[in-house]
Amino acid sequence: MWYKTVKAARIRLFDFPGIFFNGYSKMLMKKSLSSAASGSPKTAIMMMNMGGPQSLDQVSTYLTRIMTDTDMMQLPVQGVLGPYIAKRRTASVQKKYDEIGGGSPILKWTKLQGELLCQKLDQVSPETAPHKYYVAFRYVDPLTNSTLEQIEKDGVERVVLFSQYPQYSCATSGSSFNAIYNHYMNRNFPSNIKWSLIDRWSTHPLLVRTFADRIQTELKQFPKEKRNEVVILFSAHSLPLKAVNRGDPYPSEVGATVQLVMNELGYCNPYSLVWQSKVGPLEWLGPFTDDAIRAYVKQGKKNFILVPIAFVNEHIETLHELDIEYCQDLGKEVGAECIRRAAAPNDHPLFISALTDIVATHLKSEQKVNPKFLTRCPHCTNKNCYEAKQWFAKICQATA
Ligand code: FES
Repeated sequence: MWYKTVKAARIRLFDFPGIFFNGYSKMLMKKSLSSAASGSPKTAIMMMNMGGPQSLDQVSTYLTRIMTDTDMMQLPVQGVLGPYIAKRRTASVQKKYDEIGGGSPILKWTKLQGELLCQKLDQVSPETAPHKYYVAFRYVDPLTNSTLEQIEKDGVERVVLFSQYPQYSCATSGSSFNAIYNHYMNRNFPSNIKWSLIDRWSTHPLLVRTFADRIQTELKQFPKEKRNEVVILFSAHSLPLKAVNRGDPYPSEVGATVQLVMNELGYCNPYSLVWQSKVGPLEWLGPFTDDAIRAYVKQGKKNFILVPIAFVNEHIETLHELDIEYCQDLGKEVGAECIRRAAAPNDHPLFISALTDIVATHLKSEQKVNPKFLTRCPHCTNKNCYEAKQWFAKICQATA
């Protein structure tokens, strides 16, 4: 992949940005700071994610948008069944959000990540500064449509569409990209802006180091004599097997991250990749996180670290499902000694350096879009995917 060209030396420079500058970049930076002061960003970094309800009264709309998104899932008579399922699930999902403080912290984390990212980008990429981040959520405010309108209003020269899912799935990243295509099908496209996209970054070395550091922090919490026995369970959101068999790249990309993290840790502990958050009656990719904990306890394992390997910030799946349902309730039920959870990357300095390096490398690259993104899953039957990819190839001046 394109980001494999990242050199270790570059990474060290990003850790110490002061070393990176020469006279020319300082001059550019001064120029960019004056533009920033005038309030006109040059480069928009659109941070795309699914989002989460900020308050309990947003839960119903949020669920309805998910259940009626035909890129996310395909249901029979979806226009009727989707809202029906959303309505039935609203109260129980509201209860979960209530138990984690009344709403999702995903917006708070994304804003902080965006702020820190743009501060660093202004330093390491003065020629594209000032940078401004924009949050584009798929199912809750700030929604993709309104964010795109804001970007146009701000009069930027360039937009980088930056998926906040490190591993690409057609149900999540793909849906967010298709939403941009859908938006411009109904209005004029601003062809004066330069467009490019970052669709996946599952093997970025600084992402890997972030997860490794989060795991090491948790390992240290176990007594020395137990530390080597701790089972590291990498937990990612599952997918219906139907999607996996269509050729969705997500499972293999999650696996790639896991292998690199364990390599970084020198394969210090036993580990397994497990899958969480299954809903509905369809067959989903397993083994499931809760079943795996149960089974390992039966095998005599008593200590675990759960690692949310496909989430870059805390939200309901980490704060409720992993922390409350598994670490706390399930741990007690099955008689585990200790189940801890590694924090999501959030504002870890290595993670902010990862985001910076990914975007800075992309801004310098000639490649505006990854050819993998422009190629559909081998068994994709979604017309929207076909049309969206043709359109993205056009706006990024590539060949689909
Ligand atoms: Fe993967 Fe359409 S489902 S490209």
